Amino acid sequence: MSTSLQLDHRHIVLGLSGGIACYKAAELTRELIKAGASVQVVMTEAAAAFITPVTMQALSDRPVYTSQWDAREANNMAHINLTREADALIVAPASADFIAKVANGLADDLLSLLCLARPVERVPLLLAPAMNREMWAHPATQRNVARVRADGALVLGPGSGDQACGEVGDGRMLEAHELCDEVVAALQPKLLAGRRVLVTAGPTFEAIDPVRGITNLSSGKMGFAIARAAQEAGAEVTLVAGPVHLPTPRHVRRIDVASAQQMHDAVLPLAPSQHVFIATAAVADWRPASYAQRKIKKDGSATAPALELAENPDILAAVARLPQRPFCVGFAAETDDLAKNAREKLARKNVPLMVGNIGPSTFGRNDNALLLVDARGERQLPSSDKLNLARELVREVSMRLEPLP
Ligand code: CTP
Repeated sequence: MSTSLQLDHRHIVLGLSGGIACYKAAELTRELIKAGASVQVVMTEAAAAFITPVTMQALSDRPVYTSQWDAREANNMAHINLTREADALIVAPASADFIAKVANGLADDLLSLLCLARPVERVPLLLAPAMNREMWAHPATQRNVARVRADGALVLGPGSGDQACGEVGDGRMLEAHELCDEVVAALQPKLLAGRRVLVTAGPTFEAIDPVRGITNLSSGKMGFAIARAAQEAGAEVTLVAGPVHLPTPRHVRRIDVASAQQMHDAVLPLAPSQHVFIATAAVADWRPASYAQRKIKKDGSATAPALELAENPDILAAVARLPQRPFCVGFAAETDDLAKNAREKLARKNVPLMVGNIGPSTFGRNDNALLLVDARGERQLPSSDKLNLARELVREVSMRLEPLP
């Protein structure tokens, strides 16, 4: 499965309640379908005042449901039937009024009926609030939001910024692509619920002078995919990233660093409180022994300046030496002899799991192939998208963890 088909074979019920953000639901429908899902749209009467069912039918390629009395259903029970085949129910936009209804278990129209009648264990309910900032901040709304959360609903955002009313603040509905990512995340098994996971990613940059440095070709994509997969699996994730140009995965705490020493200094204090440490960063083994405060200039002679190097701290080995150490996973970036090199690093760094990959054939690319090496043996994860591999690695790690107390 490619990352573009994250919702293949998934059926999503998309509910719209009334609000100007209904226009974004059109884009969300397209995003969900692009991701491989089938989408059944359900609209409240108020939603139909903002966007027509005709538009939503055309985009979703299915007739839209607007009434609990819809006679198209043979048993006349649209409120039951629609969620029985669904993998998730997302209401976007969810108005203040609609959230109040859900919070109180009211069910006087089809969409609120669906929320109440859905099989709670099997069909997650995602609510994407969209309202004026004063409405969002009102204690009644905050009380209702807390209540729907306590009842198991996922409240997405809201975002902050310019509002249709001309005011600026909290209450904007998240963008369609963000909501689509939230649906994908909601459908992942929560294998790391209650765990804290620390990930390093990307290259490091070892400055020679103010304009030059030593680095490598790591793009950070594998580590970012692992951070995303761990977060989607329910973990609280911290990502320590070297210099890369990648967006931070949703709900992941990111700490940016440049050099190996900075990465070491960011990781070590956090490590003892983590359940898992995954070291994907391609840490530079050496740094210039001294940093030139000014740009090193050509001096007219034929001899190039000699660059003396000093060894960087081994971050993974240092974490593995901690008395209270997390479950440590290393990545071995090799050019050849993957199994032998990975096994040798497993022993040398004293970690329970080492993941081998061929550096030059994966750096910067969206796919990779992994070889998992541990005391019990080896497992090959064949070439695939980095996010798919990350999810598989998360599964492998989760199976090796001690149960939570
Ligand atoms: N690593 C680290 N700190 C370093 C060097 C490596 O934390 N200073 C981690 C990497 O993040 C990776 C693992 O150790 O998880 C193996 O990194 P790799 O560069 O493949 O191995 P090295 O120990 O650097 O060995 P070599 O360069 O000889 O292959």
